[in-house]
Amino acid sequence: MSQSSISFTAADSGREFRSALGRYATGIAVVTLRTPAGELLGLTVNSFNSVSLAPPLVVWSLSSASSSMAAFEASEYYAINVLAAGQQDLSQRFASRGEERFGGLALDEGLGGAPLLPGCCARFECRNATRHTGGDHVVFIGEVERFDYREDEPLIYFGGAYRRLAA
Ligand SMILES: Cc1cc2nc3c(=O)[nH]c(=O)nc-3n(C[C@H](O)[C@H](O)[C@H](O)COP(=O)(O)O)c2cc1C
Repeated sequence: MSQSSISFTAADSGREFRSALGRYATGIAVVTLRTPAGELLGLTVNSFNSVSLAPPLVVWSLSSASSSMAAFEASEYYAINVLAAGQQDLSQRFASRGEERFGGLALDEGLGGAPLLPGCCARFECRNATRHTGGDHVVFIGEVERFDYREDEPLIYFGGAYRRLAA
């Protein structure tokens, strides 16, 4: 039997809004780039999704508070690395401040020098096509120029916690 739900308005706390959004299960990705000076940047996102097949477009959003905003707005290319079931540690690493985010990883080099992480389910190399401001985030639409994938199980994020696909 399903539980009854409670209604909220936009004036209610942001916590309830986050809880409601958390009922939508997603994967986890790490978006990466290389700056013109050669610095590697990347962060964990669960806002990644598909947009269009022809042309091949994907979407993700970046918080205005991100230390990487200027670099992502300026970069011609970035890569979206979809994490596999066993890569929860990478998700935490790329979401934490003060971590050596790329330390010890066997990276491949993508378009524009964007680092491609090892062991991922799928990796999309994107041209930074368009950006739109949406409240406290900027929505990035990327045109996929190259990608790879394998049949591994994905890391799942639901209700604020990491999950795995059921058997
Ligand atoms: C599961 C998960 C999903 C996240 N999704 C996003 C996202 O979609 N967009 C975003 O800007 N930050 C997201 N974050 C937060 C960033 O990963 C985190 O704030 C990171 O430290 C930002 O790094 P930066 O300031 O160096 O860019 C997410 C974090 C976690 C753990």
